[in-house]
Amino acid sequence: MAKAKTFSLINLILSLLVISLPSNSQEFSTKLSKRKIGREKLTHLHFYFHDVLHGRHPTAVVVAQASTTASYRYKFGEVLIIDDRLTVGPNLSSRVVGRAQGMYASADVSDAGLLMVFNFVFTDGKFNGSTLSVVGRNAVLSAVREMPIIGGSGIFLFARGYARTRTHFLDLGRGYAVEEYDVYVFHY
Ligand SMILES: *[C@@H]1O[C@H](CO)[C@@H](O)[C@H](O)[C@H]1NC(C)=O
Ligand SMILES: *[C@@H]1O[C@H](CO)[C@@H](O)[C@H](O)[C@H]1NC(C)=O
Repeated sequence: MAKAKTFSLINLILSLLVISLPSNSQEFSTKLSKRKIGREKLTHLHFYFHDVLHGRHPTAVVVAQASTTASYRYKFGEVLIIDDRLTVGPNLSSRVVGRAQGMYASADVSDAGLLMVFNFVFTDGKFNGSTLSVVGRNAVLSAVREMPIIGGSGIFLFARGYARTRTHFLDLGRGYAVEEYDVYVFHY
């Protein structure tokens, strides 16, 4: 107890010394008025996400798995990297508005639960170059899933919100899934 007290006293003296040193007196942070960044907006985005696992040009590839992955019904431990196309309509050949780039992993031993970690990278119109980051659980067998949007860049600085998705089309044999996405984000 006494030792701890002595220690904290020394710490206090040291920190006072450090504060008073001239090289540390310079500020590196400034408080800004929130008014300067304008009004917060709420944007709704609607598009289709094409997960292509097989064929000549797959955009979702398995990069890792555990030695035990095959023994789990839902491939626990499997990791995929994706660069999936996002389109305005459900058809793969409809107008491309961006890509979903990142990864997903089977992270549930007894259920179909994916950990999704990816960015929506938009390439269309005023959204070109802007991104939104998604991190969340995707219970792929549920009719509707929600995943948090945890941030963004470009138009979407300070973004937060959620993505709601449902499976529009699924062909396990061909390894092709089309997911319909509704994204709601607050941003400035
Ligand atoms: C997608 O578009 C192509 C070319 O326009 C067409 O041949 C195909 O039938 C469409 N697929 C679906 C599922 O609508
Ligand atoms: C998006 O931006 C890139 C780089 O600035 C540009 O090359 C491309 O043509 C733009 N695409 C659209 C659809 O505006």
